[in-house]
Amino acid sequence: MSTPSTVPRTPRASRAATSRLTVRSPRFDIPDDLADTFDGDLSDACSRVAFSLILPHLEPYLIRVYRALAPHITDARIAADVEAFCGQEAQHHRGHAAANRKIRAFLGPDTAGRLLAVEERIEADYRRFETERSLRFQAAFIEGFEAMTCAMGLTGLETGRRPVGDGPWAALWRWHLFEELEHRNVAFDVYEQLGGSYPFRVAVGARSQLHFLRALHELHGILMEHHGASTRGVHLPPLLRQGWRRWLRTYSPRYDPHAIELPDAIGRYLATLPLARAG
Ligand SMILES: [Fe+2]
Ligand SMILES: [Fe+2]
Repeated sequence: MSTPSTVPRTPRASRAATSRLTVRSPRFDIPDDLADTFDGDLSDACSRVAFSLILPHLEPYLIRVYRALAPHITDARIAADVEAFCGQEAQHHRGHAAANRKIRAFLGPDTAGRLLAVEERIEADYRRFETERSLRFQAAFIEGFEAMTCAMGLTGLETGRRPVGDGPWAALWRWHLFEELEHRNVAFDVYEQLGGSYPFRVAVGARSQLHFLRALHELHGILMEHHGASTRGVHLPPLLRQGWRRWLRTYSPRYDPHAIELPDAIGRYLATLPLARAG
């Protein structure tokens, strides 16, 4: 792990604070036949499956980094938000890991093995970042990912582009997308708390997004091949293709997720989901 000298050393705030975020634990019973997972446009469907395959590697990494960063977070409210953020991300990767087990079984050992080779590479990358990179680098790396998913979530809301139907696969993604929007400020606040500079944020954020998108492209290609479909060029998730202007705006020096107002419908929907048990 990085040495503490990579982040400012300041005393922890003594004042306790409560996060405005909520940790929920809905369960989605994905059917063995993946009834709606590959419905609709095949490329879009493979993109969502590829995304889902990466998350049980990425989200535990985010949590490990934030656990390591916790002693350096001096603002009590940000500390409370980080705790809740980790709780939400933990629930997300559990939900996706359960879905991914069904997906691998459905695809069979040959395709699952090819997918796993890519997954193992990105897992190794995250482990390497933890040992070789500073906490500040990793905070910027995480903010790069969270800024991208926030932009994707907003585009999804705007366009209504989402998994087909009202089945468990669509519900898993709706919950995840809405909580990504709900906790959009946390990674930004953590990076600012570490004295984040703008050029470093965009340089490392771009690297983070390229790292993720490269893996997504490879997984997407394997899934398309499995279905006998060909691919051309670089694959970009549909929510980034459609919302590329919003995505680019996250690179602005004026970008601030606090300025984004969410529709009330998000809170109303999330309020219908069961809360995670404390402890
Ligand atoms: Fe997440
Ligand atoms: Fe997130």
